[in-house]
Amino acid sequence: MTQDLICIRHASENDAPQISEIHETSWRLAYQGMLPHLALEKSIARRGPGWWQSQLQRSRSTLVLEMHGEIGGYATIGRNRVTKLPYHGEIYELYMKPTYQGLGLGSRLFNAARRTLESRDASNMIVWALKDNSAACRFYEGLGGRPVAEQNEKFGSELFRKIAFGWAVT
Ligand SMILES: CC(C)(COP(=O)(O)OP(=O)(O)OC[C@H]1O[C@@H](n2cnc3c(N)ncnc32)[C@H](O)[C@@H]1OP(=O)(O)O)[C@@H](O)C(=O)NCCC(=O)NCCS
Repeated sequence: MTQDLICIRHASENDAPQISEIHETSWRLAYQGMLPHLALEKSIARRGPGWWQSQLQRSRSTLVLEMHGEIGGYATIGRNRVTKLPYHGEIYELYMKPTYQGLGLGSRLFNAARRTLESRDASNMIVWALKDNSAACRFYEGLGGRPVAEQNEKFGSELFRKIAFGWAVT
């Protein structure tokens, strides 16, 4: 009997150390040289294993992709935070471990996050990505996301442009 070695499931408190490590390494890879150094390090330090553990205790809003018992990426989901945009759901974050990137696994996790939002009555959804993060923007465009809004976000003393990609009901 063959089994799918890749599973996507809700994260539990026990996953906090691995998720925290993925957050740290993938943020460094994605944002070093883009965001101000100190602001990036502060964001990373703020979200250590303890922070993730309390998040995971509080809500079922984190999905993980697991392969051979190792977590290769995570996504956090919930209600759209920008209420003036006509979207119900939002993928807040989607980060793959650097060694798991470019293998089609981020797309699988994205689709699972989208299905989970749909099962919670979020019939449409958005994802924000920094405009300078061209790899992420291409990734979301490739998955059918349409740019629907732009905003500034402050890191340290600098403003960065971010884009909301929107998806209608499937
Ligand atoms: C962005 C990210 C989630 C994509 O996941 P992934 O597993 O690497 O992507 P996949 O292998 O599923 O790629 C799917 C498509 O996205 C596009 N893509 C992914 N990474 C890309 C990159 N670095 N440059 C250009 N296109 C890219 C490709 O078009 C690919 O399509 P293809 O199958 O035609 O080649 C992942 O690379 C990641 O975690 N990056 C760092 C963190 C980040 O930027 N997260 C998003 C924050 S908003």
